[in-house]
Amino acid sequence: MNAPVPLGLGEFEADTIPLLRLRVQAIRLQADGIHAFELVDPDGAKLPPATAGAHVDVHLPDGLVRSYSLSGDPADCTFWTLGVLREVNGRGGSKAMHDSLRVGELLTVSRPRNAFAMVPSAAHTVLLAGGIGITPIKAMAHTLTAEGKSFELHYCARTPRNVAFIRELRALVPPDRLHFHFDNGVPGQGLNITNLLKQQPAGAHLYYCGPSGLMKACDQASTHWAPGSVHFEHFKPPEPAPKAAPDASFKVRLARRGITVPVLPDQTIVRALELAGFRVPTSCLSGLCASCKVEYLEGDVEHNDYILSDEEKTHCLTLCVSRARSPLLVLDL
Ligand code: FES
Repeated sequence: MNAPVPLGLGEFEADTIPLLRLRVQAIRLQADGIHAFELVDPDGAKLPPATAGAHVDVHLPDGLVRSYSLSGDPADCTFWTLGVLREVNGRGGSKAMHDSLRVGELLTVSRPRNAFAMVPSAAHTVLLAGGIGITPIKAMAHTLTAEGKSFELHYCARTPRNVAFIRELRALVPPDRLHFHFDNGVPGQGLNITNLLKQQPAGAHLYYCGPSGLMKACDQASTHWAPGSVHFEHFKPPEPAPKAAPDASFKVRLARRGITVPVLPDQTIVRALELAGFRVPTSCLSGLCASCKVEYLEGDVEHNDYILSDEEKTHCLTLCVSRARSPLLVLDL
């Protein structure tokens, strides 16, 4: 069988942008089950630029690829920090990071991508993190502090032992803007998100990241915020809503190649393209990371991702989870 042909996916073309080989400079315990992994160029070169909210894909042994947010100061290109929670019941990526990775080892890492970028014009920013969701939020706090912008940071955790980066956060964010909320594992005892988001300060933008309960609460509590002012990043896909009808088959045409590929009801577009001999760059396979984001030219798309904005959905889709409602979907590939 011939080697699969890598597909170019615009700005997210992982196959034409070389991966980086980075050295683990330090591994620091941050909180219960959370370590920070510091990565540097082995020759001391500067790392590629990144903006707050960006993540990288880490290529682990056994072919695992996992996305982790950059949690350090985006202005500092001398090292990157990944905060990783060891998930006992996860898919194995965080366990491999915690259990196998040692200081001095080399890791293969993608260049940064940002599907959770900040809007620079916000008059005020509300940052809300739950658990390990602090990682992209902390990078945002660095940028907002450096730019002298108005913001507040709310960090929800079970107990103080579950708070990562506490020393850095205290040094970075003035006490009147840094709020810790502990629920001791009792739902309803922590931050009242409905009250916090009841009123949208003039010109404010909201950024949140955390476990599913927090994501749901923020979503429900911010429905009245102005369109385009609420931004979020899931680190796990939410429970999918039951489908009204089973998935149907459709066809995908690669416009620039003039090739049409059938997608069966039980296949993703990624899988159908793989079977046709094309390799799509992927990471989460859950509609969370944008590795497989691509432009489309024709078709009615059923977007099943958790990252694209309403504007992006008019011309982009993620190949790992999206499907077509129309018989044909034409991709700009
Ligand atoms: S692989 Fe992550 S969004 Fe498709």
